[in-house]
Amino acid sequence: MDKFAFIFHPLDLSLYADGFNEHHLKKMKPSLVEGVMKWLPPFKRETITGIKSLTGDEIEGDMILVSLLPEQILSLDNNFVLNRIIEAGKIAEQSGAKIVGLGAYAAQVGKKGVLIAKSLKIPVTTGSSYTVSVAVEAILKAAAMVGIKLVNAKIVIIGATGSVGSICSKLLVAQGAHVVIVARNYSRLTELKNEMLADIPDAAIEIDGDINKAIRDADIIITSTSTPLDLIEVKALNPGTIICDISRPKNISRESLHNRDDILVIEGGVVKPPGNVDFHFSFGLPFGLAYACIAETMILTLEKRYENYSIGGNVSVEKAEEMGRLAKKHGFKLAKLMSFDRQISNGQIEKVKEARSIFKN
Ligand SMILES: NC(=O)c1ccc[n+]([C@@H]2O[C@H](COP(=O)([O-])OP(=O)(O)OC[C@H]3O[C@@H](n4cnc5c(N)ncnc54)[C@H](OP(=O)(O)O)[C@@H]3O)[C@@H](O)[C@H]2O)c1
Repeated sequence: MDKFAFIFHPLDLSLYADGFNEHHLKKMKPSLVEGVMKWLPPFKRETITGIKSLTGDEIEGDMILVSLLPEQILSLDNNFVLNRIIEAGKIAEQSGAKIVGLGAYAAQVGKKGVLIAKSLKIPVTTGSSYTVSVAVEAILKAAAMVGIKLVNAKIVIIGATGSVGSICSKLLVAQGAHVVIVARNYSRLTELKNEMLADIPDAAIEIDGDINKAIRDADIIITSTSTPLDLIEVKALNPGTIICDISRPKNISRESLHNRDDILVIEGGVVKPPGNVDFHFSFGLPFGLAYACIAETMILTLEKRYENYSIGGNVSVEKAEEMGRLAKKHGFKLAKLMSFDRQISNGQIEKVKEARSIFKN
């Protein structure tokens, strides 16, 4: 059976404690736990079993844990973090994996995977191509459920110049949406706008460096950034707005939505792999579901495409579409729409739909 590996890190302390059933960690001083985590070497957490493609092929994969929190990955010495990820990659190599995926902020390290690929004998992917494909599918589905037509809808993409955000922007502009691209670096935003205009000269594209200004009057907001901060000022949102939060860690918290059941927040990149997939531990998603970045590593393994795929920001519309096609071939599906790790109910959709229609009339 062909094998892959996936390098992941805890998105927060609470998930870390839950994943190990060590709930007392939540009561300890965070700086103390973080200090210990920093010195823990990477190790194999579990083997994912039960992945069976529609073609009948079966694969399995090892989840390799790097015990660093997002804030630690961002703030610790770059070489220290890079070496931790490479160490994890060596464990993957030794376990017989033929390709290794990088999850969340592990995908930001070493020039977005390039330096990790150079240090290993097996290829590397970040999963960004399939993440784009799944996120856009989820946005189209949620928009249809709430009654938003994409043509002329105002879609704000925060983190638009990133690997995921830039391709989401291109795919949504191609649907006729009016897109507002947001990030901090203005020259990269201008470059992206020009690239998009070269493909679709009459596209409606605006640039904004101010998130709170950009989100006013938005129909749909996408967050796809490399910051763990809460980015959205909820009181600025119109009733009936959809937010697709692709970022891991998330850019919008459940707490910030207090009393705003007229806003629909959906998860950006969650899929149901084919077969009876079991991760054998909890990492924050319901049983049998996976993040699209892990799924991309699975798909490349099923295809025996042992090549560096979505690294170094090398993501494109073509790659996202290719991943979408291969996912269908093997039976990977967008998971039922979820909000804050729970399935969205018809009642939630109806509330958002109603709020939207009252506001628009
Ligand atoms: N669900 C999944 O399976 C999955 C898979 C892949 C990725 N992801 C997540 O998707 C997110 C994006 O990944 P990526 O690879 O596209 O990252 P990336 O290429 O590094 O892009 C990050 C983007 O965020 C912007 N940004 C960073 N800090 C910001 C801030 N404070 N305010 C506004 N914009 C900010 C950056 O532009 P500036 O620096 O100019 O601001 C850039 O446009 C990450 O959180 C990642 O973990 C999820």
